[in-house]
Amino acid sequence: MEGLLIPVVAAFISITATLVHGTPPSAGSFPTSGSPSGPCPPPNFGNLTSLNLAAYISAPWYVQKMIPLDYQPVDEAYCVRAEYTLLDPRNVSGGLIVYNSANKGGVNGPSVGTSKNGSLGGSRLIAVPTTFKAKGRDGKLLVGPELLQQLLPGDAWRAAFGPYWIVAVGYSQNISLRYEWAIISGGPPTFTSPSGDGCSSVPYSTTPAAVPRAATAGGWPSTRGGDGASGGGGGGNPFGQLASVDKGGLWFFTRKTEDPGSLARMEVRAKALGLDTSRMIPVQQRGCLYP
Ligand SMILES: *[C@@H]1O[C@H](CO)[C@@H](O)[C@H](O)[C@H]1NC(C)=O
Ligand SMILES: *[C@@H]1O[C@H](CO)[C@@H](O)[C@H](O)[C@H]1NC(C)=O
Ligand SMILES: *[C@@H]1O[C@H](CO)[C@@H](O)[C@H](O)[C@H]1NC(C)=O
Ligand SMILES: *[C@@H]1O[C@H](CO)[C@@H](O)[C@H](O)[C@H]1NC(C)=O
Repeated sequence: MEGLLIPVVAAFISITATLVHGTPPSAGSFPTSGSPSGPCPPPNFGNLTSLNLAAYISAPWYVQKMIPLDYQPVDEAYCVRAEYTLLDPRNVSGGLIVYNSANKGGVNGPSVGTSKNGSLGGSRLIAVPTTFKAKGRDGKLLVGPELLQQLLPGDAWRAAFGPYWIVAVGYSQNISLRYEWAIISGGPPTFTSPSGDGCSSVPYSTTPAAVPRAATAGGWPSTRGGDGASGGGGGGNPFGQLASVDKGGLWFFTRKTEDPGSLARMEVRAKALGLDTSRMIPVQQRGCLYP
């Protein structure tokens, strides 16, 4: 359990910072010239009303593309997979246990992410519908360590958790799967691309790991120190570390490990939603041995 102390302390520091400084600064909504997407966040963004969360979590998801982040850097864009189970099997509103996995350095490289049982230094990573009563039908969840939810008074954990918004889904021929692909945004895309590419929930100034060319250049150094033991899935981020206060992100999920057709549809849909996809990098899934 001692390994837990540092991340929890870090999380408290981040929460304190949030409390002191109020909600994290965002660019807010302002009209842009030259941006095809208009204001950020776009009107109606995140407007799902009938997502079936039980069907959504009925099978694992494989990440096809993502924006690299401090806690999910370019050298961990291998075999990225997300799996969810209900905390209370009878109650979708009760939230999910999150099992994230990825490899570092290459396909089937060292594992990073929450362990098979969802443990993060002893605390499970969970995702709860933002509005309990909504059963997740709006696709809006908050992700963070269960321990933080238990330790913090009242609703304070909400500020420490990261937003996970399912903003678009493609339907599957398979009725039990229901969904074939999904676009996930780390909350509303409040930041406007300086080059007119649309809106993003990931700031343009503060994420060195999010330089898109790094992927093609290769060998981008990890901005995250240590190994899987120092973090790997946690507070404030759908995939992130406890210490991080970054809350944005963008992921393209598919049911199949590789699915170019769905990927093409997501590219089109994301742009139609006003999202800037230019900083996303491909995730390698070919040849992966999943946990
Ligand atoms: C959400 O908003 C988009 C863009 O305005 C629109 O095309 C879509 O029909 C809306 N979906 C729902 C469920 O309201
Ligand atoms: C389901 O979970 C929610 C959130 O924890 C809770 O408010 C609600 O009472 C639960 N419902 C049942 C039937 O247990
Ligand atoms: C979760 O897995 C870890 C090792 O991966 C183990 O130490 C721990 O006891 C497990 N927890 C539960 C609840 O199974
Ligand atoms: C539908 O998906 C489920 C879960 O992955 C799978 O077990 C089943 O075989 C699929 N059915 C068809 C007809 O492909």
